[in-house]
Amino acid sequence: MKILAIESSCDETAAAVVEDGRKVLSNVIASQVKEHIIYGGVVPEIASRMHAQAISSVTKKALDDASVTLDDIDAIGVTYAPGLIGALLVGVNFAKGLAYASGKPLIPVHHLRSHVAANYISSPALEPPFLCLIVSGGHTHIAAVRDYTSFEVIGRTRDDAAGECMDKSARSMGLDYPGGVNLDRVSKGGNPDAYKFPRPRVDGSRYDFSFSGLKTAIVNTVHNARQKDEEINIPDLGASCIKSVVGCLTDNTFAAAQEYGFKKIALAGGVSANSVLRAEMERICREKSIELYMPELCFCGDNAAMVGSQAYYEYLAGNTASLELNAYATMEI
Ligand code: KG4
Ligand code: ZN
Repeated sequence: MKILAIESSCDETAAAVVEDGRKVLSNVIASQVKEHIIYGGVVPEIASRMHAQAISSVTKKALDDASVTLDDIDAIGVTYAPGLIGALLVGVNFAKGLAYASGKPLIPVHHLRSHVAANYISSPALEPPFLCLIVSGGHTHIAAVRDYTSFEVIGRTRDDAAGECMDKSARSMGLDYPGGVNLDRVSKGGNPDAYKFPRPRVDGSRYDFSFSGLKTAIVNTVHNARQKDEEINIPDLGASCIKSVVGCLTDNTFAAAQEYGFKKIALAGGVSANSVLRAEMERICREKSIELYMPELCFCGDNAAMVGSQAYYEYLAGNTASLELNAYATMEI
């Protein structure tokens, strides 16, 4: 079954053709990073307009790259939640237009579910159940993936996402958007013990996260140093910041794996590209004899191949939508 998938939840306009949930026939991404960089973050209004401009050509290229036409496609998958509402609406309306014109089924896909599905592409043998640490710009979840379309959130952030913490810390250090990526890059070789930051815990909930205090501590460190005209060692500060965030993520994830008896763990979301997080997950999984699954770097950030993968399993579960499908800024996984 060939699915044409569309993704426009944030600042990438993406389309892909995926066969039977696992085989990527094409994967096209038009990034808007250059447009948002001068603002230091994504400007929703600009994102929507850029999606509207790019979506037709990106979709045409996805079909061309896969050497298929719309006639060869069996269904249209689209990200419908959560994300920037104006951005999501562009993809949803475009997908509805395609479904209407072609008479093919329309499959709504939850953005975080699709991040999890990136693992099905990179690891063709992976099947649920497994535990997944989902870390994106807006979400931080520890989820039990019971089945392809059945998720139980075991832990979540009470405030900021891990990605938000890294992005804002990076911004305070004068690094360009997208902060997390640049923070990872400049921190290589830095001393992760140079700065001591808290590793916050949430009272009464072993698996929940809180990153806002950590974010404030890092930003304050930068501001205090600037006020006193002290030099900041950016690689050291970045490495220390990443160490704290990664420590929180791995602590809770492995505690959850032990409590819930998971011997398979997957990583998902944009932050899963982080080099320290990947290395730490590898180290601890080896130590504990846990199987680790991580998306290839090209499938960590937002893309439509992962949407095409999850759409296949949603279709098998009977989760199709009518042409009244709407987009939603927030939605439980
Ligand atoms: O999943 P994603 O592409 O978009 C959302 O759904 O939010 O995640 C974007 C987040 C941003 O916060 C970005 O800075 C972060 O992923 N990110 C990274 C790295 N690559 C992307 N954070 C840390 N290290 C990286 N290498
Ligand atoms: Zn994402």
